[in-house]
Amino acid sequence: MTSPARPVLLTGASGALGRQIARGLGAKGWSLRLTDIAPFPDPLPAGARFEAADLNDGVAILRLAEGCGTILHFGGISIDRPFEEVFGPNLRGLYHIYEAARRERARVVFASSNHSIGFHERSERLDDDCAFEPDCYYGLSKAYGELMGRLYWHKHGVESVLVRIGSCFPEPVDARMLATWLSYADLVRLMERAVLAERTDLAVIWGASNNARSFWGRDARARLGWQPEDSADVYAAQLAGKLSGDPVCERYQGGAYAANGYSRREG
Ligand SMILES: NC(=O)c1ccc[n+]([C@@H]2O[C@H](COP(=O)([O-])OP(=O)(O)OC[C@H]3O[C@@H](n4cnc5c(N)ncnc54)[C@H](O)[C@@H]3O)[C@@H](O)[C@H]2O)c1
Repeated sequence: MTSPARPVLLTGASGALGRQIARGLGAKGWSLRLTDIAPFPDPLPAGARFEAADLNDGVAILRLAEGCGTILHFGGISIDRPFEEVFGPNLRGLYHIYEAARRERARVVFASSNHSIGFHERSERLDDDCAFEPDCYYGLSKAYGELMGRLYWHKHGVESVLVRIGSCFPEPVDARMLATWLSYADLVRLMERAVLAERTDLAVIWGASNNARSFWGRDARARLGWQPEDSADVYAAQLAGKLSGDPVCERYQGGAYAANGYSRREG
């Protein structure tokens, strides 16, 4: 079984996706450093240790990253929240992650989001070079994170895998997720490839399973050697009619986050 040469640091380890990744990569016997502001709720995998830290604490992040070859950055505000809440963990915290990566010559795998491009219409099919169209402050912080990745790649040669995650849940629950769903198993396989790939340079990946209704096209997955194996299509019969009833939500890829607080006058 292949293991990375250096330990992997996982932020947001106590969150929904962090726990899946910790379990999946831990089961491979990888050396993992887990961190989160909240305690880790599961039994620790054999090769893992956990240390609580706030992403706002740059010294703690530098220390945690010492000797690591990859940082899987999943910590921070993960939903549509006011600017002041998003600012610390998602903007300042991200700077701490990239400074740590620069020091360690580590690769960053950043949990970006479809909400960085959420104001594209659902009728569009997007490639990885599409314009950012954030649909909330949270989505804006993800666009900022991707731009931070670009800065550190061009200026310092720090590699990034920028994963625009769609909807990563145990199963899709509405019609929109027939396009955006990412299975937990596909997420874990993507993380494995993002760590093990010999070279990624600056790679943007659409984080969705193999969904026929996807809004998204070209990306850098071939460079990683990742292909999703699951699909939301098997849920189509039960979910295709499960719409929100809100025209703004249905018009834009970001769905409810685009509609939340929407005050633009049409016309
Ligand atoms: N779940 C999805 O469908 C989805 C979609 C798009 C993007 N993402 C991104 O993936 C990542 C993980 O998502 P999730 O669903 O597991 O979210 P989550 O909220 O369950 O996990 C985020 C974790 O970050 C931690 N955290 C928050 N503030 C922190 C701070 N100041 N310092 C240290 N840790 C802090 C939280 O305690 C939490 O455990 C997030 O970055 C999210 O934006 C998720």
